[in-house]
Amino acid sequence: MARFRLPLASLILLAGTAARGAEDARLHFFREQVRPILQRCVRCHGGDEPSGELNLTTRPLALKGGESGPAVRPGKAASSLLYTKVSSRAMPPKDPLPPEQVALLRRWIDDGAAWDGTVERATRSRGYPGPIAGGPRRAGPESLCWVLLNASEFLYVR
Ligand code: HEC
Repeated sequence: MARFRLPLASLILLAGTAARGAEDARLHFFREQVRPILQRCVRCHGGDEPSGELNLTTRPLALKGGESGPAVRPGKAASSLLYTKVSSRAMPPKDPLPPEQVALLRRWIDDGAAWDGTVERATRSRGYPGPIAGGPRRAGPESLCWVLLNASEFLYVR
């Protein structure tokens, strides 16, 4: 299946829409769509005593997981604890994610869980310039990574 995904991406690249590779698109997707969601988790799943012994600030720590073992299994959202907890609305406690964000996390894990850097709490008090409210920005058609991911998924599911 994976073999069908690259050619389409290449076609799009060749069509001149951009000069970004698939990996760049995944990292871009992480930065724009996934990191803002995880920023909600690291309030509890970060620091010296992360809840459930699960630290979600870096990829190696997320892969290692917490009390119940690995939280993220790249390529396998359905068997990733991170995904099952958010899709069952158990996490974040009392304040579940909207379905679009759950879907974004699923896509991100199924697509290999690309990760860039360290996820920090979104707070201006430490001078962090990132998004504060409203969760991830919606990716519109102008976002190349969105186009690539949608296009590759379109072929992927067929
Ligand atoms: C208000 C604090 C809080 C927030 C915010 C929060 N969690 Fe949790 N989380 C906990 C606590 C406490 C536990 C341990 C008890 C439990 O499993 O319910 C836990 C457990 C978990 C576990 C199971 C860990 C293990 O190995 O047993 C996962 C996975 C998880 N959280 C994912 C998330 C994700 C993903 C987010 C963000 C979308 C999130 N949590 C946000 C408090 C939080």
